[in-house]
Amino acid sequence: MKHLKLFSACLIMLPFLACTHQGMKVDTIENKVEELLGKMTLQEKIGQMNQLSPNGNIDEMAGLIKEGKVGSLLNLTDPELVNRVQEIAVKKSRLGIPVLMSRDVIHGYKTIFPIPLGQAATFNLEIVEAGARVAAIEASSDGIRWTFAPMIDVSRDARWGRMAESCGEDPYLNAVMGAAMVRGFQGDSLSDPTAMAACAKHFVGYGAAEAGKDYNSTFIPERVLRNVYLPPFEAAAKAGCATFMTSFNDNDGVPSTGNAFILRKVLRGEWNYDGMVVTDWASATEMIAHGFCKDAKEAAWKAVNAGVDMEMVSGSFLGNLEALVKEGKVSGKTIDDAVRNILRLKFRLGLFDNPYVVTDQKVKYAEEHLAKAKEAAGESVILLKNADEVLPLKDKVRTVAVVGPMADAPHDQMGTWVFDGEKDHTQTPLKALQEMYGDRVQVIYEPGLAYSRDKNIAGIAKAVAAARRADVVLAFVGEEAILSGEAHSLADLSLRGAQSELVEALSKTGKPVVTIVMAGRPLTIGKEVEESAAVLYSFHPGTMGGPAIAELLFGEMVPSGKTPVTFPKMVGQLPVYYAHHHTGRAPSGKETLIDDIPLEAGQTSLGCSSFYMDAGFGPLFPFGYGLSYTTFGYDKLVLSADKLKTGDVLTASVNVTNTGKYAGTEVVQLYVQDKVASVTRPVKELKGFQRVALQPGETRTVIFSLPVSELAFWNIDMKKVVEPGDFKLWLGTNSDEGLSAEFEVID
Ligand code: BGC
Repeated sequence: MKHLKLFSACLIMLPFLACTHQGMKVDTIENKVEELLGKMTLQEKIGQMNQLSPNGNIDEMAGLIKEGKVGSLLNLTDPELVNRVQEIAVKKSRLGIPVLMSRDVIHGYKTIFPIPLGQAATFNLEIVEAGARVAAIEASSDGIRWTFAPMIDVSRDARWGRMAESCGEDPYLNAVMGAAMVRGFQGDSLSDPTAMAACAKHFVGYGAAEAGKDYNSTFIPERVLRNVYLPPFEAAAKAGCATFMTSFNDNDGVPSTGNAFILRKVLRGEWNYDGMVVTDWASATEMIAHGFCKDAKEAAWKAVNAGVDMEMVSGSFLGNLEALVKEGKVSGKTIDDAVRNILRLKFRLGLFDNPYVVTDQKVKYAEEHLAKAKEAAGESVILLKNADEVLPLKDKVRTVAVVGPMADAPHDQMGTWVFDGEKDHTQTPLKALQEMYGDRVQVIYEPGLAYSRDKNIAGIAKAVAAARRADVVLAFVGEEAILSGEAHSLADLSLRGAQSELVEALSKTGKPVVTIVMAGRPLTIGKEVEESAAVLYSFHPGTMGGPAIAELLFGEMVPSGKTPVTFPKMVGQLPVYYAHHHTGRAPSGKETLIDDIPLEAGQTSLGCSSFYMDAGFGPLFPFGYGLSYTTFGYDKLVLSADKLKTGDVLTASVNVTNTGKYAGTEVVQLYVQDKVASVTRPVKELKGFQRVALQPGETRTVIFSLPVSELAFWNIDMKKVVEPGDFKLWLGTNSDEGLSAEFEVID
């Protein structure tokens, strides 16, 4: 009884007190935050809200740190400097609050994993989580305890260079991948010295930049925001993501950094988020350029009142918040709430107990990190075509011609957003082929072009000559790392430089050409696909891309990657994505295409449906597409019920058989369509996937559990509900092919 009373007392006192298992009371983080906050001057509070980038020069910042005017630094990667900064903060500032060290550790720190778009192509949450864990272990060994990742902007326009950093076009895929990255970065506990606080970015809608041009405005209505762009962020918040970053775009006229609807109403109000919100780089003062704020003072005022806690680099908080509080434009409570969020994170990270980093840790490029990076790279590669089973390379292949500017591009294969990976550690396909398979095949290397934008065709003849001497041509083409990423939008997505001429010339030799594309986005490679016997699409695969691709070519690994975005045939199809809504005029596929329209044809609406006369109906490759060296058969789709209530869980199962000669892994995908609703709904939406490894001849029953609640969406009344009615479900190998069944949700 006594115990029960003590327990109830503790419950009432929560969140201020916590009970240990012995019933003893201990200070919670909230208590510590309040205690510290109570001691802080207004200037010290505002100082915590300030993040600066010292560019390696901490002497300039030392004075500010001593005065308690810096809450966080970004881009300091020398552990000795990190410790010096912490010593100043802890020993010389009045309250001894440690500084939070941050960095963009996006897809690896030293050991570089595939770009996030490539990681998404694995459809493997374990390997993605493991990649983030490796990044955290390596980066935290240099004192970095906060990364600006995952980037979970739904990206449906490949012109946008930052698609490379995202997990592609699908809300569900971004949600589950983002949550896996959060788990990996943060580990089991934020207070573990190898944990990095994650940052869900960019909140929100940045991926819908008009015409794929970076920083451009977005026009996302609330329902689409809630149904498509917000779910990955809600999933990140649920996964315990420690921080959020506002985005650069203005949506429907309101820059995110000054958007109280997303920051206060949705994030804090609806999701009860108690983490910390940071601006993007200078996005507070960029509200002046947007024409949303007159000056830095107004920017600080609007950002803080909208719900921002910390400002990245532009200094408008430090310079103006004190005056704004005195003028009554920002309340003391607003400042206190922001500082609470910052201090809470620092306590959660254990920074007060252990602000210093242990130098000389030997974790970078550890064997097991490289092994995981290779696994991730291998699983990220998508087999788009394999005519006559040219892959895997057979024993009779004695000579391979290795051609193309990406065959030996150690810097470029790491991809965008790499600050710390070193090209000397990159293993390229050329080196891997020579080292791993040099005793089995003769490797003739003739790049043909020096780099992806190279227009000098002088070397193509030599590459062609090499091809003539070989049994198979391996053509490595694509994009240099710098052609994707932030501020690297493109209006033309064809292969750059003379790469297309190179592939054409190689194919004219009559030798089987295996084209391997390394890029930061889907490129419009329809012509090169036609000209090649086989195509492997590898987004920039990172440090271990070479060995992974070599093993795939020789069949030691079997491709299992699937497209995380729809591949367009032409740029003019963008934005293109599978989960578009039903139009009133779906194409039948029989409409007249441009070359078949007769001269002086009378006015018709050409079949009266929604399609392009030149690009036709579909994309180059649909979402979720990817072949294997083996083949998979699907049969016996069974649903647990054909009528379900909103609280029920639907079980859907299908038999998947490996019908080919190789052991392989299939990504079985579950899609659902809500047939009639109070607002139009996507033609189908991904609701689940499973990777299933099968031996030749093996059959497995793959079972999905789908809570009916997962069918909820924001309806005509802007309420998130499951609307009763008819649904269609598919289990299949990509978003375009699968077995289907129907069910009904009843009241
Ligand atoms: C990017 C962010 C990044 C920040 C800090 C900005 O330009 O948009 O994604 O985290 O810089 O480097």
